[in-house]
Amino acid sequence: LESPEHRMIQAHELLRKFYHHLLVNTKEGQEALEYLLERGFTRQTIDEFQIGYSLPSWDFTVKFLEKRGFSLKEMESSGLIIKKEDSNSYFDRFRNRIMFPLEDEKGRTVAFSGRAIQPDEQPKYLNSPETPIFHKSTVLYHFHKARTFIRQKDEVVLFEGFADVISATTADVKNSVGTMGTSLTPQHIQSLKRITDKVVICFDSDKAGMEAANRASVALIQSGFQVKIALMPDRMDPDDYIKKYGGEKFRVEVIQSSLTRMSFLSYFYRQGKNLQEEGDRLTYIEKMIGEISHIESPVEQELYVKSLSDEFNIQMDTLIGQVEKVRKSNP
Ligand code: CTP
Ligand code: MN
Ligand code: MN
Ligand code: MN
Ligand code: MN
Repeated sequence: LESPEHRMIQAHELLRKFYHHLLVNTKEGQEALEYLLERGFTRQTIDEFQIGYSLPSWDFTVKFLEKRGFSLKEMESSGLIIKKEDSNSYFDRFRNRIMFPLEDEKGRTVAFSGRAIQPDEQPKYLNSPETPIFHKSTVLYHFHKARTFIRQKDEVVLFEGFADVISATTADVKNSVGTMGTSLTPQHIQSLKRITDKVVICFDSDKAGMEAANRASVALIQSGFQVKIALMPDRMDPDDYIKKYGGEKFRVEVIQSSLTRMSFLSYFYRQGKNLQEEGDRLTYIEKMIGEISHIESPVEQELYVKSLSDEFNIQMDTLIGQVEKVRKSNP
């Protein structure tokens, strides 16, 4: 006899194959396919990541799974269909979307994320809800396939988005996984820690992405990882960058040129400031002193105090005094 969880996975596997078929072989999927090709995804990539398409119908999924022996209750608890309020009828969760299958650590499809095709449609990505087989906070996109490469390189590259992971993998950065949004959870950290202790964070280079990268770096460093943070110009995301500049430049100028956390912060706190101006200069120095005051290692502290001292021509003692003051007021 099959467990309810096994049945839920079966339903997802069947749908994954059919959504993919709809995208690549049918007239209904043509617009979605053109959108993806336009964005620079090749047919091979679409196959490799099993990207699919869900029809605009309200009951395609209901009927498809009913025909294959699944009950409405099973479909509902799988998150694939939704019960209408005050009625006994159900409708498909995913309609007219580009479907990204999400896999568990064994490579089994346990959920979907559906991307809108029209630019004004909300939400841009619609995800499966929490179910017995899918816990968003534990799943890293592409982890199952990236694992071998992460071990080989003893390094993982962490992205925010689906398209970023897919483009990076295609650009031969195969040790790529995605957080599917911006927060890195303790469970994500735990699964990564089992196979490596080096991370390159490659989030979007907009303000939200950089703030998320900083938060993720704190959590990762606390868990004993060696962390680097990658940056791209003009608020780009990794997918934009690879599409514009190509994989070679991405590997050399983004991944291999990634920064330590303090160098990243130094860049981050300079954004939008003119350090020739006294006010901006003071704000920048205070921000950096705040960060330095959290550093445990005296050697590391001195290193960064020294570079502030050199850059702004302020005595080491003055800076150290300020670090101590901040430490006391903010233990
Ligand atoms: N995300 C989500 N729900 C949303 C928006 C985003 O789950 N409504 C997740 C998706 O996994 C997405 C990631 O957060 O890939 C990063 O979001 P964002 O940078 O806004 O999207 P992109 O990945 O850049 O999407 P695209 O390139 O397709 O526009
Ligand atoms: Mn190691
Ligand atoms: Mn983003
Ligand atoms: Mn993005
Ligand atoms: Mn993007």
